[in-house]
Amino acid sequence: MRKSILLAILHIFFIQLSFAQSPKIVAPGAAVDPFHYTIEKSNVYTNASVSCAHPLASAIGAEIMKQGGNAFDAAIAIQLALAVVYTNAGNIGGGGFLVARQVKGKTFTIDFRETAPEKATRDMYLDKNGNPQSDLSLYGHKACGVPGTVAGLFATLPYAVLPFKTLIQPAIDLAENGYVITESEASALNATRKSFIENSTAPTALVKNSEWKSGDTLVQKELAQTLKRIQKSGAKGFYEGKTASLIVAEMKKRDGLISKKDLKNYTAISRPALEFRYKGYTIIGMAPPSSGGIILCQLMKMVEDKPLADYGFQTTKSVQLMIEAERRAFADRSVYMGDPDYWKVPIKTLTSDVYIKNRMADYDSTRATPSSVIKAGIIKESEETTHISIIDKAGNMVSITTTLNNSYGSRTVVSGAGFLLNDEMDDFSIKPGVPNLYGAVGGEANAIQPGKRMLSSMAPTLVLDKNQNPLIVAGTPGGTTIPTSVFQTLINILEFGMNASDAIGKPKFHHQWLPDEVMVEKEFDPEVKKQLQSMGYTLTERGQIGRMEVIRILPDGSREVAADPRGDDSVNGF
Ligand code: GLY
Repeated sequence: MRKSILLAILHIFFIQLSFAQSPKIVAPGAAVDPFHYTIEKSNVYTNASVSCAHPLASAIGAEIMKQGGNAFDAAIAIQLALAVVYTNAGNIGGGGFLVARQVKGKTFTIDFRETAPEKATRDMYLDKNGNPQSDLSLYGHKACGVPGTVAGLFATLPYAVLPFKTLIQPAIDLAENGYVITESEASALNATRKSFIENSTAPTALVKNSEWKSGDTLVQKELAQTLKRIQKSGAKGFYEGKTASLIVAEMKKRDGLISKKDLKNYTAISRPALEFRYKGYTIIGMAPPSSGGIILCQLMKMVEDKPLADYGFQTTKSVQLMIEAERRAFADRSVYMGDPDYWKVPIKTLTSDVYIKNRMADYDSTRATPSSVIKAGIIKESEETTHISIIDKAGNMVSITTTLNNSYGSRTVVSGAGFLLNDEMDDFSIKPGVPNLYGAVGGEANAIQPGKRMLSSMAPTLVLDKNQNPLIVAGTPGGTTIPTSVFQTLINILEFGMNASDAIGKPKFHHQWLPDEVMVEKEFDPEVKKQLQSMGYTLTERGQIGRMEVIRILPDGSREVAADPRGDDSVNGF
């Protein structure tokens, strides 16, 4: 049973894209035009600042703060806008985590992670011979956890100052009147077309008769109606009434498990932030049911006593040390981490200096430590998540990572309600102790149980300087690469003295214990690659790692805001 339900409601260069169609203005204010917008990768603002996955959502966040809203108002409005304009990960049918620090110094987190439905069972994704059927946990009705995002928005609302109806209006307008899509959105929608058709039971706005093209307008009338019900009735407009009936009716069509009771009982949970020190900086992260904060803590502390700055940025010496830290931190994940309301997670030990130092006792700077000598297991996770970093004029800091899990989640659109449901059930260990179809091994801590939250890697993060003043707001999508991406970005800033844009633009590497290989982005230094190979590392080139959104507060109080160059991510502010 859940024990800890405390509060249940609770630079400048411009890039490429500009879209030309008939102009239309959405609230709030003429500054946000869904038919003409540009992607801006970095800027320095003196006041409110936002970095997130879509330029329209960033612009709405900045507008909300211009109209007197604070970072929490912006957080609500941005999440809702992303649910419309960033359909592959922005959502109202998924979940996530918010990490915040109010200007008066209070830090807190809101856990709005999905839960397993009441009818979920430990072996629900195994066939009669006990073999995992991973497609069932990834696609379609049975893959869906009980959504947490709308409860998370209303748990954030007490910290906001503007009325909810104002905060949701821009999203309603975007859904109702449409917005023009980018090249990458068009190609993602086209690539997923077949899967939408297979996994949805009614026509959806995400599928049209011809291929999507950059500059096309996406209108989502049913989603607009759902958002209006939330505007009118609050969280009940989602978890009860017509929207709940539509979700349950959808579930019943194809063996989905979410019931009216599951929806009505869903609660967001306020949890204490996971805080730790790194060389005098205070780092504030997300505690379980995300593994993100613990892994980030272990990574930072495993390298803290080494002169990384002297080793130099992405030299063989610094990369090898960071790889070995990553290997060890990830080895703990599946054995020890799960939903703390169902499994005793030894957070104190896992984040203690003594334990972490001990984990590096067998570190050898001359060679790779084979993962076979380090015990534990790891869960495969999808990388399609999205992150929002915000700071307002007063200095309230908000860092939110939210997800549907897979790109476009379960690919199941709720008929009549116009939104995608998550496939977060795949983040559970579908067969504890046995590798799943992806070769990933899960643990008992993360076995499926009704009402339980599945383990995540999301790592929304804040950093305070040595005087406890705001320094960095950061986060990224990327499944298990999330904590390593945040780790490398913080090290780039704190140790290698980079600005935010450089810190996120550099190539990344990732090791997660199993498989025993170092994944590197294609721009990674070939000479360092060769040297690592000669030390016993297996290196695999892969696509992009992470899409960081970072705000760095400069000594004069202005904010350097950077959006990852890897996507349509964009900054805004004033
Ligand atoms: N679904 C990705 C994560 O929660 O880490």
